[in-house]
Amino acid sequence: MKMWAGRFSKEVDERVNDFNSSISFDARMFQQDIAGSMAHAAMLAAQGIIEKSQGDSIIDGLGEILEDIKTGKLAFDPEAEDIHMFIEAQLTQRIGDTGKRLHTARSRNDQVALDIRLYLREEMEKITGLLLELIRELCEKAKDHLDTIMPGYTHLQRAQPITFAHHLMAYANMFVRDVQRIRDGVKRMNYNPLGSGALAGTTYPIDRQMTAKALGFDGVVANSLDGVSDRDFCIELGAAVSTVMMHLSRFSEEVILWCSWEFKFVELDDGFATGSSIMPQKKNPDITELIRGKTARVYGDLITLLTMMKGLPLAYNKDMQEDKEAVFDAIDTVKLCLTTFIPMLRTMTVLKENMRAAAAKGFINATDCADYLTKKGVPFRDAYKITGALVALCIREGLTLETLPLEEYQRASGVFEKDVYDAISLDACVHCRQSEGGPAPEAVKIQIGKIEEFLTRE
Ligand code: ARG
Repeated sequence: MKMWAGRFSKEVDERVNDFNSSISFDARMFQQDIAGSMAHAAMLAAQGIIEKSQGDSIIDGLGEILEDIKTGKLAFDPEAEDIHMFIEAQLTQRIGDTGKRLHTARSRNDQVALDIRLYLREEMEKITGLLLELIRELCEKAKDHLDTIMPGYTHLQRAQPITFAHHLMAYANMFVRDVQRIRDGVKRMNYNPLGSGALAGTTYPIDRQMTAKALGFDGVVANSLDGVSDRDFCIELGAAVSTVMMHLSRFSEEVILWCSWEFKFVELDDGFATGSSIMPQKKNPDITELIRGKTARVYGDLITLLTMMKGLPLAYNKDMQEDKEAVFDAIDTVKLCLTTFIPMLRTMTVLKENMRAAAAKGFINATDCADYLTKKGVPFRDAYKITGALVALCIREGLTLETLPLEEYQRASGVFEKDVYDAISLDACVHCRQSEGGPAPEAVKIQIGKIEEFLTRE
């Protein structure tokens, strides 16, 4: 019989029971549910709403249930409607009628709003930990590659020379923002919904501040309707982890390109690549492809949450039970991707010579050639035009700006002198880009320093 069976004259249809049930997925919140119930029982006792001995007995019973679930002694009953009902039923089975007092001044609506907040808070801490590990790894790798010259791209066309360290630190900055975004979302979420009741609070003299303190919240949700019907925090954190996935996916796309024979900028460790069942020569970057693919899933979870909420009148509606699978899937996916991506990155070999060889082609020093003229007094637009003509000449003659004879330079502009070759050397091009945030080793060292400072504050 259901706990709410009092008003009903017959048992719920088997199909409805299965359809309605959420225990198959919300069981994973058992620890949060029990922690919330313990805090609630302690508050009820402190406020004299139940007797002190009853509070103690409830808390002890819940402690035993927690132990038994953890040790595998107690299995979840698939017939239970949800984790909240399951634990409450277990409690009453174990401690008798006192167990029935736990749900005084509470509803599953504020209970579930609490559980998912507590769950998200813990999981976001884990995701943040993984992101910090990734950022640390990026800083370490960057330090090894301050002088590793590679082409920087726009439109996937070779554009200007940068270093691999500079490229890696771009990602480090993205992941720092991800950490900040998650922390910010958690801060906004961290208010106690308990005590909202079903929607309209309660007539009992409850102390919401007490449960807030016990459960580590920064305060209480100010309005009881909002307390049970708000899922902004799921959406906000869903968007934050979607952004993490977007960053990981861009990075993955680059690793995929870099692994190809067309680029060959990196070589994955054999432990982090896979083969083909038919083509013996293949070494595939499956991990990064899967991360790119799984990004779609996490975006899907976010869209599920947004769409699920958009037409809901206040306050709680059963539609909101659909939040959990989306939130859980997004969390699981992001953790899985980060856990695999970090060691893949750590073990990847960087093929410096290939990066440099690619940088030597494609006229990526053309801007520096124009800048050379500009520094000698030629207006930039004219310098740009002269250099463009020289590039066209090189293409016709099968030359590069480094191999183009000085006479050709001087035919294009009398300003050119022998020192043009120094000005357009790859090393000079990179080392001279010392502007704040630029690729010169000194400038990248400063970038690494800033991020390491952030890491020590974390
Ligand atoms: N399993 C439900 C959920 O996940 C718990 C809240 C149910 N409340 C209710 N009044 N039916 O949302």
